[in-house]
Amino acid sequence: MSDAVRIAVLASGGGSNFQALVDRFRRSPEREVVGVIASREGAGVLERARRAGVASAVSPPASTSGGAATFLRRTLDEWRSDIVVLAGYMKLVPEALVRAYWGRILNIHPALLPEFGGRGMYGARVHRAVIEAGVRITGATVHFVDEAYDRGPILCQWPVPVLADDTPESVAARVLTVEHRILPAAVEALASGAVRLEADRRVRWVREWFETETFTNREG
Ligand code: GAR
Repeated sequence: MSDAVRIAVLASGGGSNFQALVDRFRRSPEREVVGVIASREGAGVLERARRAGVASAVSPPASTSGGAATFLRRTLDEWRSDIVVLAGYMKLVPEALVRAYWGRILNIHPALLPEFGGRGMYGARVHRAVIEAGVRITGATVHFVDEAYDRGPILCQWPVPVLADDTPESVAARVLTVEHRILPAAVEALASGAVRLEADRRVRWVREWFETETFTNREG
């Protein structure tokens, strides 16, 4: 049997999306969540990693000699990462890393890109902007990472309604439930070769996955 596809995660926060990946792949011999790099000490994701028995590291601030870019590259390479997943990662990915892992880095964003994304648009700020704009539909997006925040080619999206009495917190909770479904599904699609990023930056689904159960609106 061939080696497992090795999945590394970058995160800054509580790590519920990291947890969704761990839960999804825990029993799969063909996929392995090999480690998580947190962008700061004390991030909740580090405790989740400890409990799950997954390796973890904390990236040094950009000002450190050698810098975060070298650290990220070295750590991801050491873990022999095949796929890198930004799961609530609030920093810009260094260009060299984007190039080294081109077509193999995914990000999840809690809105329907290209709206409500970009620098400074993370967490509650996204949902506040959604409510202020008065849109009736928001959602979650998984996209390939390029050199800019939240801009790379979109792999999949799922809509979520915005209700009249919603707060940023209630929208966040509704969107997060969807994130936990589509992120593992998108990672599995990339790992299995069902989707890939082509040279012209188009996202090509090579099988019928997109229309199958993976992205349909049912539980489980
Ligand atoms: C998630 O909602 C994720 O989409 C968002 O941060 C949250 C992290 O939650 N990411 C961004 O806003 C990136 N622009 P988690 O730590 O519980 O997975």
